[in-house]
Amino acid sequence: MTSFTAPKGTFDTLPPDSATFLAVRDALTAPLRRAGYGYIETPIFEDTALFARGVGESTDVVSKEMYTFTDRKERSLSLRPELTAGLMRAFIEHKLYSGQLPVKLYAVGSNFRYEQPQAGRYRHFTQVDMEALGVDDPALDAEVVALAVAGFRELGLTDFDLLMTSLGDAECRPQYREKLQSFLAGLDLDEETRRRAEINPLRVLDDKRPDVAAQLAEAPLMVDHLCDPCQRHYDEVRQYLTDLGVEWQEAPRLVRGLDYYTKTTFEFVHNGLGAQSAIGGGGRYDGLSKQLGGPDVSGIGYAVGVDRTLLALRAEGLVGDAPSRVAAFVVPLGDAARRRGLALVTELRNAGVPADFAFGGKGLKGAMKAADRSGARYAVVLGERDLADGTAQLKDLTTAEQRAVPLTDLARTVKELLS
Ligand code: HAM
Repeated sequence: MTSFTAPKGTFDTLPPDSATFLAVRDALTAPLRRAGYGYIETPIFEDTALFARGVGESTDVVSKEMYTFTDRKERSLSLRPELTAGLMRAFIEHKLYSGQLPVKLYAVGSNFRYEQPQAGRYRHFTQVDMEALGVDDPALDAEVVALAVAGFRELGLTDFDLLMTSLGDAECRPQYREKLQSFLAGLDLDEETRRRAEINPLRVLDDKRPDVAAQLAEAPLMVDHLCDPCQRHYDEVRQYLTDLGVEWQEAPRLVRGLDYYTKTTFEFVHNGLGAQSAIGGGGRYDGLSKQLGGPDVSGIGYAVGVDRTLLALRAEGLVGDAPSRVAAFVVPLGDAARRRGLALVTELRNAGVPADFAFGGKGLKGAMKAADRSGARYAVVLGERDLADGTAQLKDLTTAEQRAVPLTDLARTVKELLS
């Protein structure tokens, strides 16, 4: 019979590597908890219309990459391609806006995009996402960006850059959009690019093909056409970031793959990753709540790709040896010792010592091999004579030293030796 493999573009995270995955997830979220962000979970699937309206119908993410299906009652649902729309839906549905603002939320979870898989680009990936909702204050923008930086620093990453720009708002962007469109209309572009210029002209600015890029050198840029409030907002964000010691690069052509952004917009790129270099990105999205039927309140947030952050850590040589699974490994010799040994494992665990047992009725040699493989510092060998004496042999697997320890003291002794 044929067996199965994980679907294309997906992968399994297995021990011991999975320990690093959890450590990355925890390091990226630690600064958020310290800043008063609360953990939220939302469903992995939502109404398809939520993403169409929230993320934008003309984005690749929605128009080409969503996993969409109908359920048994013909409702159209989609696996979430990102977390912001779902969090905003929950914010509106539960009227979180009627409490204290900003509402600070973070989430960790799976996302799904039908992309062409390559190194760092998957169809199933994990993000750490955060959103600060309900307050339009440039100081909040600076805090949000600084928290992302703090997460990367917590992991020891240094070889990354912060790219930042302002995308304006409902006041100045439509005017700029027209200006850009009339500029693009005068260029020699192929049919598809022309179409893109009609639907989403800002995205044309991101075209990397040399002949197109050359024509775009003189294109008008949003940052040069910000209205006064947006200009002031951006100036203040930059002032606060300077105060916080955060460095950034101006990226006036930064194009994000989601349509909801306004004003401050940013991306983190790592220099050791090749084509898929964005390890995180985000920005302000002041129209999203209203767009989704909520009150007209603002929001800002970011998401960091956990999988790409792991690749970045590897690129910087920051992934150390896999941690040991357990600290103590109990090896029983004979049936009576087996029974006492299994209870001993529980005593060790209850004392806070990660412990495992030689399951499977192995002989001494096989069991000691299993103890070595587990990475445990100590083997606890329990023979029949030991049992009669009420002791066990405690063996330090790094030095091979061995001594008899009373069973009643064993858990406490191992705990003390480890501390
Ligand atoms: P995004 O830029 O689409 O933004 O994704 C954020 C991060 O998720 C990327 O920088 C990347 O590290 C990771 N990522 C995206 N797609 C993939 C993929 N196919 N495979 C592996 N990693 C991937 C958002 O999703 C916004 N919701 C961020 C946000 C939150 N904006 C405001 N609040």
